[in-house]
Amino acid sequence: MTTKKKTILSGIQPSGKLHIGNYFGAMRQHIEMQEMGDSFYFIANYHSLTSLNDGETLYQNTIDITLDYLALGLDPDKATFFAQSDVPQVTELAWMLGTLAPVSMMEKGVSYKDKIAAGLSPNIGLFTYPILQAADILIYHSDLVPVGEDQKQNIEICRDLAGKFNRAFDGEYLKIPEDYIVKSVAVVPGTDGRKMSKSYQNTIPIFGEGKPLKKTVMSIQTDSTPLEDPKDPDTDNVFALIKLFADKETQDEIAAKYRAGGYGYGHAKNELLGLIKEYFGEALEKRKELEKNIDYVKDVLKEGGKKARERAESVMVPIREVTGIFRSF
Ligand code: ADP
Ligand code: TRP
Repeated sequence: MTTKKKTILSGIQPSGKLHIGNYFGAMRQHIEMQEMGDSFYFIANYHSLTSLNDGETLYQNTIDITLDYLALGLDPDKATFFAQSDVPQVTELAWMLGTLAPVSMMEKGVSYKDKIAAGLSPNIGLFTYPILQAADILIYHSDLVPVGEDQKQNIEICRDLAGKFNRAFDGEYLKIPEDYIVKSVAVVPGTDGRKMSKSYQNTIPIFGEGKPLKKTVMSIQTDSTPLEDPKDPDTDNVFALIKLFADKETQDEIAAKYRAGGYGYGHAKNELLGLIKEYFGEALEKRKELEKNIDYVKDVLKEGGKKARERAESVMVPIREVTGIFRSF
């Protein structure tokens, strides 16, 4: 018996430079999963319009994220990597799903409330964001959606909408996906100890270098225990970050230095800086090489877009038919 490969899908917003929270919370798993099935990863540029109104930046972020993924090991022969906007069927399906989505379903959206609380403008795009996300997922008949815990509710909404559509039109037109919550790291803390996030200006970039990177690492907030006193590694932000990069043995060594005293947070930060450089060093060199060949990077998006569009169109054809949506071409 042959088992069909599962379709794995995930997206990331190009709303800023990617940081190590994005890497450990999402990108690393995307790259690891590229061989586990038929993977589709995309840059959610329509989603970013809900918070970013600067075309040049949005475009540049799209190229930058593609560079980041390629440098970190995404293989376009294994995974389909593309921009959301290269698949117009997504916005077409999103409209249809929106006609079945109760307003109250959106009103319960936690991420909408969080974003408003963080100062984003309460626009309709932000309000209906989960509908577009549902279309992103459903348009490829995705089986598995690897995302962080914060996205769980959006996947639930997607499942609900797929069910509503199938019931409304009496058939299995859309496949109900499963979430795949990435549990390998909890929340990666930022330099101020809150969740690392573009919205909090507390990020450490994946591909930082030289003085700016050093300055960022040195700015990580710690308590004021004097250098000579013993310190608790388990309550310290610097150590929480060190744990992401160091193997178990190195972690234990550093933890012992914390507990022994005579080891300051400055020492720990220098250790972290060295670990970050080592961890991303090879990828940084690869990224610099790729930057010299932006045409190749654009080709990756173009090819990925083509494949994604073909899949999306095959899902959309029966849906247009059953919904009675007329097309003269
Ligand atoms: P940001 O908060 O910087 O805007 P996003 O919300 O765009 O980041 O997140 C993109 C992906 O990265 C999501 O899958 C999210 O779960 C993951 N992610 C973002 N920040 C962190 C973090 N600090 N720790 C772990 N995962 C994170
Ligand atoms: N909302 C996701 C985030 O902020 C990005 C995203 C958009 C997404 N569409 C998706 C993730 C579809 C998974 C599947 O991280």
